[in-house]
Amino acid sequence: MTLIEACGPDRPFSQEGLRPFLRTRYIGRGSVEFHDRIDSTNARIRALGLDGSAEGALVAADLQTAGRGRHGRNWHSPPGVNLYFSVLLRPNLPLAQMSLLTLAAGVGAARAVDRATGCRTGIKWPNDLEIGGRKVAGLLTELELRNGAPQFAVLGVGLNVNLAAADLPRDLTDRAGSLLTATGRRWDRMELLGAMLEELEDQYEDLRGGRADLVLARHRRASVTLGAVVRVTLADGIFEGDAEAVDEDGALTIRRRSDGRTIRVSAGEVSLVRPTGTRPD
Ligand code: BTN
Repeated sequence: MTLIEACGPDRPFSQEGLRPFLRTRYIGRGSVEFHDRIDSTNARIRALGLDGSAEGALVAADLQTAGRGRHGRNWHSPPGVNLYFSVLLRPNLPLAQMSLLTLAAGVGAARAVDRATGCRTGIKWPNDLEIGGRKVAGLLTELELRNGAPQFAVLGVGLNVNLAAADLPRDLTDRAGSLLTATGRRWDRMELLGAMLEELEDQYEDLRGGRADLVLARHRRASVTLGAVVRVTLADGIFEGDAEAVDEDGALTIRRRSDGRTIRVSAGEVSLVRPTGTRPD
């Protein structure tokens, strides 16, 4: 018997399959769609948001044909092995606090993976999930604005679950992984999705309840960026520095190596040049 057989097959990828693991109050309780195939779950949730769907709407897909990543990249979304889902949120937070939503989502997703698998997941600012130095999940938060005011937010999560190392795209083999490659066993996608929705809702509730301090403290504890030497790619150039802090608005402050100046980064691409080796605690 192979290890895969010993761990049993995935539960059905459907609302029915999710039901035993759904412990939320509103995320995944109203409008719920499971697709065999879709272009992008984020695009579908945006359409539902524009149509007036209520907060908590959930769209999950087994396969995405045009999965969207951060910085305009594509998100590798093969069928049968991973989780791709998006949630509609109507946070009613000032625009300045919207980046905290991104951090809160990362904290929730990391806690869900840790709880379901016993792994110790690190967060690379702002919200990539890493295990053993490999990215296993990415989150894309997209904000819908009208006249400069936030209307709703789309929170999309891609988690590599049972993707084998051999099936990673060639350009990602040395940077990406999955829960399978990290732990050597397969995991139930529906159980993970249930844990994700519950932990995301908890972090979101803390944020809305004025407890951003709790979310930030959890982010900092799980951070693999703080204390590391990082390379930052901004629209107007690249620099390297020491990642020193995540401030109360969720921005990363970095001491630039070339001149010692402190630079505050609230959007941009940050990669680790020299990791800390340990997660701060
Ligand atoms: C990243 O680049 O790290 C973010 C990746 C986010 C991918 C997820 S998969 C589900 C949702 N739908 C999308 O089109 N993108 C997000």
